[in-house]
Amino acid sequence: DASFDNLARQFNHLPLIDKLPNCFPDINPVDIYRAHITSILSDITGADKSVIYPVLQWTATLDKGDLMLAIPALRIKGKPDDLGKQWLEKWPESPLVEKPVHNGAFLSFFFKPEPMAKTVIPMALQHKNDFGSNPANGLRDQNDPSKGRQKIVIEFSSPNIAKPFHAGHLRSTIIGGFLANLYRSAGWDVTTVNYLGDWGKQYGVLALGFEKYGSEEELVKDPINHLFTVYVKISKEVADEKQKAEDLKAEGKEDEAQSILDNGVDEKARSYFKKMTEGDEQAIALWKRFRDYSIERYKQTYARLNIHFDEYSGESKVSEDEMQQAAAKLKEMGLAHEDRGALLMDFTKSVPGKEGKTLGKAILRKKDGTALYLTRDISELINRYERYKFDKMIYVIASEQDLHVKQFFKIVRMMGRDDIADKCQHVNFGLVLGMSTRKGTVKFLNDILRDVGEHMHEVMKKNEDKYSQVEDPEQIADKLGISSVMVQDMNGKRINNYTFDLSRMTSFEGDTGPYLQYAHARLCSIQRRAELSDEDIAAADLSLLTEPMAINLLRVIAQWPDVVQNVLKTLEPTTILTYLFKLTHTLSTSYNHLRIVGSEPEVMKARLALYNSARVVLYNGMAILGLTPVERM
Ligand code: ARG
Repeated sequence: DASFDNLARQFNHLPLIDKLPNCFPDINPVDIYRAHITSILSDITGADKSVIYPVLQWTATLDKGDLMLAIPALRIKGKPDDLGKQWLEKWPESPLVEKPVHNGAFLSFFFKPEPMAKTVIPMALQHKNDFGSNPANGLRDQNDPSKGRQKIVIEFSSPNIAKPFHAGHLRSTIIGGFLANLYRSAGWDVTTVNYLGDWGKQYGVLALGFEKYGSEEELVKDPINHLFTVYVKISKEVADEKQKAEDLKAEGKEDEAQSILDNGVDEKARSYFKKMTEGDEQAIALWKRFRDYSIERYKQTYARLNIHFDEYSGESKVSEDEMQQAAAKLKEMGLAHEDRGALLMDFTKSVPGKEGKTLGKAILRKKDGTALYLTRDISELINRYERYKFDKMIYVIASEQDLHVKQFFKIVRMMGRDDIADKCQHVNFGLVLGMSTRKGTVKFLNDILRDVGEHMHEVMKKNEDKYSQVEDPEQIADKLGISSVMVQDMNGKRINNYTFDLSRMTSFEGDTGPYLQYAHARLCSIQRRAELSDEDIAAADLSLLTEPMAINLLRVIAQWPDVVQNVLKTLEPTTILTYLFKLTHTLSTSYNHLRIVGSEPEVMKARLALYNSARVVLYNGMAILGLTPVERM
């Protein structure tokens, strides 16, 4: 039993923990120490516990201690350095922590190894897949679970039908999937939405193209590639006819040019799309089939990435009426005005100062009456709020669209809906550079994953010994390939651009997906070979873990629940990855010092308990990121 009560019994002189907010000693081992240190510090300094507890920070590197305090954070009169000295003199003997290390304005706290082993390891092994997740985060009221969980809607991926699934969609998909896992593990009620680009004149163009170049058989077999091929062909026609009209105009043949345009594909597409907006059954039926087939195929690909959408929404789902109403309202409020038939927002006039300048101008409705991307987003957000009554809504969209998102959040505010805009957050990200392949620059998600999987397979073949031992190398290569892409994508801060680098991301060396997978498979293999039962491991004498290597590993493992708490603030997948690489590096330096094979049976049990705890954490971290940890490779 890893509960705090049990620990308190073992160390019966431990001061009792008062109920502090955000203190979860039963699921976060570090909170035990936080509470303990808080109570000592409160006795010594007279500061209130509620002030001390939240400022005991976790550390990025272990040499800074297991917890750290910036002395000024306690808001006590005096020079931080002097205060530190005085407090140190008064520091009592503690069963859990060493005397703190004082350095200028900081105090570093180091946990005593034995009690730490006895809390961290049982907690990790008992809570397993739940170790690190804290469902209380998502509660509306932490003191009253009956008030229910908070609701979050996360919109991500959002590709455009019949167009390539480009790098921006790939990043949105990976980051969005991660956020969904993160919030779910934090006890939120999560709804995932894919807002497809599935509406607009281009779907009139596509329908005409399908009449001419389409094949039913191909559509069923490979809808995404087929629709794209058709779209490319018909778009070329549109471009050619424009060029022809230009040339004729240049020759002074205005009438001929006009007649080409009037009878051309582009004009036909416009009226076809008009029919769609008016609900023409036949036109809608064809479009719906394009959409349905594409979604079916997207779903298969998303499944490979462990991603599921609760809702496939899209630009087509926004009602024309509602958009007209929103536009009319903005006009009535004097915020939008007609300009040569179009409806325009001029933020430079309606929003004071720098913000107005940044927001610039935006079109709400074109002169032919059709609504735009911006207007759709406004109506869709208001609708979504009615539908879900969310507490939070996250948009995972490339930073290229920062201005667009700023504009539509602002317009929603200007319409008097601060209540909605306050709940919205744009999670943005930088570009992927150099994402082209053998087969050209156009990329669909499936092609990317296939290419990387094939490349990974080549990499694996280079190590003949190992390769011959893998049971289903192609399947493993596929999983490793997916991990390569995802880890490369999440390794830096979201806002940074990165270069798609096939050979680097698939390497087993360096901070890559295959490296993490390898670390996980190695822990699984250690466990398999030791052939010890769960009961044996649970009964291990953890006081045998005395080597500095074992203690370091333990300290890293102990941080995991705090890492998850931190990532809920940063929403940066790299927060988790950096930690997992710290864990795996610590592991790889431990193996030589903490052998299993050939050790005393009791030592073996204790070490295996330690390695199993590390495996639990590595597994959980990979799972939040959306990776599928492999057990053999
Ligand atoms: N389909 C859009 C694109 O490919 C992305 C949509 C982002 N979401 C939104 N609500 N605007 O650029």
